[in-house]
Amino acid sequence: MSVGEYKPGLEGVPATQSNISYVDGLTGLLEYRGIRIEDLCKYSNFLETSFLLIFGELPTMTEFDSFRHEILHRRRIKYRIRDMIKCFPDQAHPMDALQACAVAMGMFYPLKRDLHSADYIYNAAIRLIAKIPTLVAAFHMMRQGNDPVPPRDELSYAANFLYMLNEVEPEPLAAHTFDVCLTLHAEHTVNASTFCALVTASTLNDPYVVLASAIGTLGGPLHGGANEEVMRMLEEIGSIENVKPYLDRKMANKEKIMGFGHRIYKVKDPRAPVLEELADKLFDRFGHDRYYDIAKEVERVATERLAEKGIYPNVDFYSGLVYKKLGIPTDLFTAIFAIARVPGWLAHWKEQLADNRLFRPTQVYTGLHGITYKSISDR
Ligand code: SDX
Repeated sequence: MSVGEYKPGLEGVPATQSNISYVDGLTGLLEYRGIRIEDLCKYSNFLETSFLLIFGELPTMTEFDSFRHEILHRRRIKYRIRDMIKCFPDQAHPMDALQACAVAMGMFYPLKRDLHSADYIYNAAIRLIAKIPTLVAAFHMMRQGNDPVPPRDELSYAANFLYMLNEVEPEPLAAHTFDVCLTLHAEHTVNASTFCALVTASTLNDPYVVLASAIGTLGGPLHGGANEEVMRMLEEIGSIENVKPYLDRKMANKEKIMGFGHRIYKVKDPRAPVLEELADKLFDRFGHDRYYDIAKEVERVATERLAEKGIYPNVDFYSGLVYKKLGIPTDLFTAIFAIARVPGWLAHWKEQLADNRLFRPTQVYTGLHGITYKSISDR
């Protein structure tokens, strides 16, 4: 293996073949199973999109009714997992809590049937899509010393999550906005956390561990953790007047602007304008948010300087503003990204299983050979 073939971060190196989603980073195109993300956000919903991603086609009415009914009625979590959450430190990060709960969840569903069987895959998908939001909401309520709010089977997927967060049934606009955010974040080809899911899937471990691996990877600030960092950046900037001095300082220190840049997109991430539109509607209905004005100024000033490098706002730049307006605390933003990405991870897990080969790349060795061992007294 020559050094020339080594690509840091596997940049531009195909790691798999997939027909789940497609990104064109030069034109800002994102398609799930060939359907443009803008159309899915306009005409579909998160659960129908989840079915599309995992099973490859939009469901018939019967398929969708059954899929949705299963999910809406299997959102409760085991009391032992609730007891485990009680033992977590209050200051634990929600992503760490979620990763621990994902593995714990799998302990209750040991693999009894063939990992490749359609009904095992279907049931694992239902359970994970149904229960991950309940785990996030339960952790949030319990870290405040409250009992978790049980899911209400009659509420939609999006409305129920917002309800479990603060025991208030959200207005239709808030629930619809959150549902669109979930669709926007559901899948994005072989990003870092999906690649991690593929590697774990290729060892034939169970889907609960596969998702725990992916959740751990998503949490980093260069990946899904950026949405929290963007909100903190906007709060630190504090005013429109402070945007330019803040960015001057960041760029002078060669620091990255959170929510900007992307390994694939060299134009504005197509998900960002959809989030901007959602933010506009929310602010019209529930009152303006000065952080939106600060964000628009950050986008203007940062784009002036970074556009020539193909660095523009990504999906994480505006998502936090929407979540904040929906009353969601900043440190839950990445856990929400994880809730949304579950169908994408499951789709890649299923696709890997169908034509599996254990991931085992090689390396370019840069170390020494034939070193003589020295006893500690001689060192
Ligand atoms: C997500 O991959 C996916 O699909 C991920 C995702 C998904 O849906 O799963 O889209 C979700 O993770 C979005 C990205 C969220 N992360 C951030 O917002 C963190 C800030 N962004 C950067 O860390 C960065 O843009 C990355 C990590 C996202 C991508 O960076 P690359 O491709 O590794 O590029 P790089 O770090 O090699 O930078 C190339 C140049 C450098 O300048 P030079 O040294 O060549 O002069 O661009 C500069 C970088 O300094 N640069 C930035 C920048 N991002 C890159 N400069 C300022 N601010 C930034 N945000």
